[in-house]
Amino acid sequence: MTFSKRLAAFATTLSLAASTGAAGQTVQMAVQAGDPKLQISKHIYGHFAEHLGRCIYGGFWVDEKLSVPKQGRIRMDVVEALKKIKVPNLRWPGGCFADTYHWHDGVGPTAQRPKMLNLWWGNTLEDNSFGTHEFLELCNLLGTEPYLAANVGSGTVQEMSNWMEYLNSNEDTPMVLERRKNGHPDPYKVSWWGIGNESWGCGGNMTAEYYTDVYKRYATFAHNYPGTPLKRIVSGANGDDAHWTETCMKNIPLNQMWGLTLHQYTLPTGSWSGSKGKATGFGEDQYFSTLRNCLKMEAVVSKHAAIMDKYDKDKKVALLVDEWGVWTDVEPGTNPGFLYQQNSLRDALVAGTTLNIFNNHCDRVRGANLAQAVNVLQAVILTDKDRMLLTPTYHVFDLYQVHQDAQYLPLQFSSPDYAFGNEKIPALNASASKDAKGAVHISLVNLDPNKTLKLETALAGVNWKTVTGRVLTSANINDYNTFDKPNTVKLASFAGAKKRGDKLAVELPPKSVVMLELK
Ligand code: AHR
Repeated sequence: MTFSKRLAAFATTLSLAASTGAAGQTVQMAVQAGDPKLQISKHIYGHFAEHLGRCIYGGFWVDEKLSVPKQGRIRMDVVEALKKIKVPNLRWPGGCFADTYHWHDGVGPTAQRPKMLNLWWGNTLEDNSFGTHEFLELCNLLGTEPYLAANVGSGTVQEMSNWMEYLNSNEDTPMVLERRKNGHPDPYKVSWWGIGNESWGCGGNMTAEYYTDVYKRYATFAHNYPGTPLKRIVSGANGDDAHWTETCMKNIPLNQMWGLTLHQYTLPTGSWSGSKGKATGFGEDQYFSTLRNCLKMEAVVSKHAAIMDKYDKDKKVALLVDEWGVWTDVEPGTNPGFLYQQNSLRDALVAGTTLNIFNNHCDRVRGANLAQAVNVLQAVILTDKDRMLLTPTYHVFDLYQVHQDAQYLPLQFSSPDYAFGNEKIPALNASASKDAKGAVHISLVNLDPNKTLKLETALAGVNWKTVTGRVLTSANINDYNTFDKPNTVKLASFAGAKKRGDKLAVELPPKSVVMLELK
């Protein structure tokens, strides 16, 4: 069976299970051998840092006087925490901000950098003290791949082209001489370039047809410099907008694009107008609707992947979900333009579920960026002056890092339902991989807040003797970590998995994310 047929079969079993239900029964799961060449790209575990609210300023880049470990003004406790979850790439400077950003204002002596208004996000005065060199130093400290978004909406082809030359060339051109004068003799070799952001919206309100022409013009002048072949990335669809993806795939030659993006957020209420829903203090109704909305990622990714398959049978072009995550109302009393929200156990379940979906589509999804890394939307880290905390979502990225660049192992199972009111969703989702040393990792998410799920798992061709695990759960669906109680939702070792003969027996607690390791 081909990979796509297997996925289709998997999707069918999920939906059949959703309609028949199997609560109380033991779920039979099969871990298959899969294609040894198919890897889960580490770039699925990417993050996003926009000049928005307190992500950069107050998050990564802090006041000289703030009493925290710093390198220059880069906050090192944040860097150290992110290093532990292995951030493979970091997207910057936006987001909507990217299409207002003029990179040249953010290089050279800080005091001489012009200021600008951040019109998208709170009308704050942007002093450009965090610019290209500072971002690339941050990436260097994190050991991560920089992923830049070029300004297409209000910039020019020349401006983008100059940025590339400034960063990647080593000839004595004015751009390179300027970079050297600004303290970086060697080229930075930045290969990941997004050409615009949300060009259907804040990036210029373009039609798909118009954008693809604009894209080709920009891509033509996005030059490869020696040793740095570019990964040119097309600004992709909003949610399930099939026309946008179809137009991009039809109009842009495959050799002009390395990747195509998709933005798909999870709103608890599902509505962009009015309340998006609460980050904390919600009841089971909004818990359920959030998870139901998050599961739409499966259908949305499948839809775009199928369109891409029509034009790119060999799956050369990566689908990059470079903005995803839960988007709630902001915390009461905070600037609505700063998108600061708390992060609960529910968000961790969304993260585990979404990452399982991406893993299961790793033949096409080869990158993703959670929005956003610090203090914005579904952040993995929150800061308050000198304090910081790790959110429940952080712990999911900690658990799932074992999947990075590991061999994908397909799973087959029928999920029981989690029913609420008149609706039901599959309670169980999962993905699996085998790492370079042969250890098998299975990530399991039980969305049902009330029922333990029993699993019996058969593994084809895996020789294993022991199983260990870690679990993320908490007493309540809306538990979260605060600066005073930073460990309410934390990882614990998991004793609910046992070897029974050749099979793996698991008791998966309600509302939990579990990572198992079989060796
Ligand atoms: O992540 C917040 C915003 O959401 C980004 O700036 C934009 O691209 C999207 O609409």
